[in-house]
Amino acid sequence: MKFSTKQIHAGQHPEGVTGAVITPIFQTSTYSNSKLGETKGFDYGRTINPTRTALEQNLAALENGKFGFCFSSGMAAVQTVAMTLKSGDHVICTSNVYGGTYRLFEQIMVNLGIEFSYVDTSDTNETLNAIKNNTRLIYIETPTNPMLQLTDLKATVGIAKSKGIMTCVDNTFMSPYFQNPLDLGVDIVLHSSTKYINGHSDVIGGCIITSDERIADRLKFLQNSSGAIPSPFDCWLILRATKTLAQRMRCHNENALAICKVLKESGKIRKVIYPGDESHPQHELAKKQMSGFGGIISVDLDSYDKAVNFCNALNIFQIAESLGGVESLVCHPVSMTHGSVPKDLREKIGLTDGLVRLSVGIEDEDDLTEDVLRALSNL
Ligand SMILES: Cc1ncc(COP(=O)(O)O)c(C=O)c1O
Repeated sequence: MKFSTKQIHAGQHPEGVTGAVITPIFQTSTYSNSKLGETKGFDYGRTINPTRTALEQNLAALENGKFGFCFSSGMAAVQTVAMTLKSGDHVICTSNVYGGTYRLFEQIMVNLGIEFSYVDTSDTNETLNAIKNNTRLIYIETPTNPMLQLTDLKATVGIAKSKGIMTCVDNTFMSPYFQNPLDLGVDIVLHSSTKYINGHSDVIGGCIITSDERIADRLKFLQNSSGAIPSPFDCWLILRATKTLAQRMRCHNENALAICKVLKESGKIRKVIYPGDESHPQHELAKKQMSGFGGIISVDLDSYDKAVNFCNALNIFQIAESLGGVESLVCHPVSMTHGSVPKDLREKIGLTDGLVRLSVGIEDEDDLTEDVLRALSNL
């Protein structure tokens, strides 16, 4: 089945009692036993919920995986992956990882005895050199947030597999429509479903997908034991959203390409970072391992003052954290999403005070380019 068919049908069947086409919101915390110990496969709402199961099967199908697990946030999903480890284990992590992931690893997981090395995973030699005897996980974000650096997944998986190390990819920026890491041999994929997967800026959620049965058993155990599960209503909202994921992603991509062109042609910006642009140092890799480039563009406006002026001058783009929604947003990562990343590490990866991140929505292309051009004329 192709993506656009799976997004509408995978995990969803007409409901048993009425034939309702849309999976209902099973708003229940528990299920009645017909006799003591006799259930219909459902015992308690934290452990299992039919609306959540439908979403988990839907997302697993979209990532070409066998098992899906949903969580109450993207961070709960990241935390669950980290909890597959134990004290004494070592993790290699993409240096320009999402600020919240860095905070979780550095301010919580290190206290549990897990060790992290932050490495430019876009250079596979650096990844190779960082491997220790106790390395258990290579945690990759590609493209990264907000520098949009790519990691060669096939090459990294080759290194990891030769050493028996598990790989996990945060695929939030590409969504399952543009990139499927499991197809390239990655063990675990995770998303902040808050972003493109839900796409309507009305749910916080996360998910993990794998095809490895042993990893899936552990994730199921952790999901039930730590209990960071999404509500049935949130699952229903996300299921409603995945039905249009392909169409939304194509539009994000088209609009971002148009805006990237306008930004570059303006001659007013020192650096436009977008994997879909030929000037991106990893444009060839982007074409190879992704089937589109997504809707995120980062621009370096040289100074904090210019970044502030640009953000304030935009009309359609709203100043807000988050990304991946149908509406266009602009964000200043240093003061908003990446405040918890230390200044020296930020500077090392090029995350300057003048950097602004655009999350290009699916509004009309002409309106968006006009908005950007007008804001630029202000600089
Ligand atoms: C790449 C990435 N991963 C994970 C997260 C965390 O997701 P959530 O905000 O849903 O907890 C975010 C949030 O911005 C993100 O951008």
